[in-house]
Amino acid sequence: MEKNTVTPVRPAGAGAQPLYFNPRRLGHVNLWVNDLKASERFYNQVCGLNVEFTEPDLIATFLGTGHTPHDLGMMQTTKGVDRYGRNGLLQLPGSVGLKPGLNHLAWELENEADLVRAWAVMKRDNVPIDMTVDHQVAHSVYMFDPDGNYNEFYCDTVKDWRSVLKGDMELITSHWDPEASEPFTEGRYETNPALRYVESAPIHPQRITHAVLETDKMEAMTDFYTHIAGLKVVRQTGSSVYLKPSLDDYSHALVLVESAEPAFHHVSFELASQDDLEGALTRLRQDDQDITMDIDLPWKRSFMLKDIDGLQSEWYVTRRAEISLDRRGNTPLAASV
Ligand SMILES: [Fe+2]
Repeated sequence: MEKNTVTPVRPAGAGAQPLYFNPRRLGHVNLWVNDLKASERFYNQVCGLNVEFTEPDLIATFLGTGHTPHDLGMMQTTKGVDRYGRNGLLQLPGSVGLKPGLNHLAWELENEADLVRAWAVMKRDNVPIDMTVDHQVAHSVYMFDPDGNYNEFYCDTVKDWRSVLKGDMELITSHWDPEASEPFTEGRYETNPALRYVESAPIHPQRITHAVLETDKMEAMTDFYTHIAGLKVVRQTGSSVYLKPSLDDYSHALVLVESAEPAFHHVSFELASQDDLEGALTRLRQDDQDITMDIDLPWKRSFMLKDIDGLQSEWYVTRRAEISLDRRGNTPLAASV
């Protein structure tokens, strides 16, 4: 499928300052899955993510820990059929989502004024935007990166989002006009969320922290994620780039790894302790879950788990040592970062 990709526009002298967005953190990752109910069961009953709300008419489920309205969204592959949101919005064209994989990465912004300002400057600079939508608890701007990965930049619009989105929902999303009203300037993200995980599940996740993308266009992708997405390069090796959001509580939110072909490699969730991790690993092995990697490095302990579509997630705890990829031994690059 041909996708609308972005050529970053960078005025002379702009240096490394973000021109458009300035995200606080990776708010969620959204996946295309072949069988929604089976994937929902896996991420809920095995991975321990709480089902926050579902959108049956969109064939979508949203799970999380409580830090944001969801850490992980999933939508059933379109199989070529258009799916509509509210008021006739063509939300999921049948030309996308034909196979399991990354649907989008979603970046949480400080407030609506920041989102609308970035949107207006992008329009001025002719940076391609795919659409702007109202998700009831968030306003969002969507666009593609140079590899064709879809990105959502959003601000929360309702602090107590659990009072709006819960259980099975009617269609949620409609078109949003960023110029329709004066944008608000206060952060409406939840600052003291009630965190939840599924006690009976083997894994007890604490929060989503980052995603790893493989790319064959490292320069263009780094340019997009710094100058447009507004992340900051915090570590760069010959073959990987670590990008950090504005919140210091997250050491990085995205890692780009050089590869022969662009691909979504995995999404990573942090666990509370190494004891939790070892306990999870023991139970997953007893249950014959597909552990694809058991990673033991001076800077992290983690494992990779494959879901029923073959999509990978990482569950990890950090250790004290600094990341040093030349000490990663036999661990593949994209699993070491
Ligand atoms: Fe999203």
